[in-house]
Amino acid sequence: MRNNMWRTLTASRPITAAQFSYGRNFGNLARPQLFAWRISRLGPLRASRILSHSARCISSSAEKPSTIDDISQKSAISTEHLPVVSMDERKVSIGWDAQTWSRFHNMWLRDHCRCPHCFHPVTKQRLVNTFEIPTNIAPTRVAAMPDGLEVSWPGIQPHVSLYPWSWLQTNSYDPPMVNKDIKTEKILWGSKIEQSPPTMTYEEVMAEDEGGLFKWLSQIDQFGFCFVSGVPTTPEATEELSQRIGFIRQTQYGLFWDFTSDLAKGDTAYTTMALGAHTDTTYFTDPCGLQLFHLLSHTDGSGGATLLVDGYYVASILKELHPDAYDMLSTIPIPAHAAGEPSAFYRPNPPRGYPVLRRDPSTGELFQVRWNNDDRSVMSHLEPHNVEKWYKAIRAWHQCLTSPDSEYWVQLRPGTAVVVDNQRVLHGRSAFDGKRRMCGAYIGMDEYRSKLTVLREKFAADPMILANDNVPGSGRHIWHRAL
Ligand SMILES: [Fe+2]
Ligand SMILES: [Zn+2]
Repeated sequence: MRNNMWRTLTASRPITAAQFSYGRNFGNLARPQLFAWRISRLGPLRASRILSHSARCISSSAEKPSTIDDISQKSAISTEHLPVVSMDERKVSIGWDAQTWSRFHNMWLRDHCRCPHCFHPVTKQRLVNTFEIPTNIAPTRVAAMPDGLEVSWPGIQPHVSLYPWSWLQTNSYDPPMVNKDIKTEKILWGSKIEQSPPTMTYEEVMAEDEGGLFKWLSQIDQFGFCFVSGVPTTPEATEELSQRIGFIRQTQYGLFWDFTSDLAKGDTAYTTMALGAHTDTTYFTDPCGLQLFHLLSHTDGSGGATLLVDGYYVASILKELHPDAYDMLSTIPIPAHAAGEPSAFYRPNPPRGYPVLRRDPSTGELFQVRWNNDDRSVMSHLEPHNVEKWYKAIRAWHQCLTSPDSEYWVQLRPGTAVVVDNQRVLHGRSAFDGKRRMCGAYIGMDEYRSKLTVLREKFAADPMILANDNVPGSGRHIWHRAL
């Protein structure tokens, strides 16, 4: 079970800075003392970091997942501490101690065998044919070994599986024991972020060893945006900077954009108008992930300040002040369209779209904000009794979004690019005159997340990072917790 808890840190403003924490710290379960562990002693809520920014902190790296050191034979436990194992025609039971048992269905265990015949040690893909496993499969023998649970299966060719203890604890589902999700710390921020916004230099992020790149992506992961200063004021350098993260995502606006306010595309982005805080491409089923933009020049005029608003922070305020509105925005889908170009007509699938606040159904955790009131289509799917309530809810959202406590305004200058997580941080701008030349790109969310994970494997002493010592040269370990 996961705890969600808001804690107010200060009460000096109508919208306060607060702290958010969830998850439990189970410590390193794979140590021998595990067996003295009791479900009744599941660890304490972890206090998140308190930040200097006007901020909430969404936790985190709370759980210390098992490392490969724990998972592999290196952590084999002494025979006097071995768990008690038993079997019947449906399940295998493991007694971690007198009070704590896990049960695994026979079918589940057979399906999760990771011997080289059942799981490819290099590609990390299942080889076992799940559908050839007899539905009434039952072991002929189970045994507690120092390295893990050993299960012998019947068949023309008898088969033996070995499941590391730590892996079984991590993946125990009856009962669940460990929060398996690997979380990273999210720092929620308001207008005070202006005092020290996350910033990297071009030199750092382009450095060959990728240490700066890792720091850059980690900042984007924590804050939902990050500036890069000292970028050469050319589209070529900016494109190279974008590609440093991952593939550029091509859309109807092109691959890499380089544009002025000439309405070259049928979208208000290509005008000089002020734009309120929004996320891009709400009319896509999968909105663009990161957005990188860079003002290359602004001549013969002024204005055009950039607005950034942390959607996670604003959602947290809404949840506190208007819980009913928060629920409505989390459940009622919003259709959207991009129809300003004769050659394109975009709508999400399904056409009713998605809620403004998308939350994990099993945990309630917010994972995506999508909001562009200008691109919203007809709301003909609202229940009649909800129409006024829904307008009230989006008004409350709009008020929180446009509160001076939430809005971070910054005047970008040529040479400073910004990357924004388009599924968390909303952006906008003030009106301007004169001639501005902007360039930038979208980068896929999955590409960015993959790159960040790989860099964590390279640089971070993250417990998810598993050396491979099962088959030399085969990459990640077969018992990696994310597989
Ligand atoms: Fe935009
Ligand atoms: Zn096998």
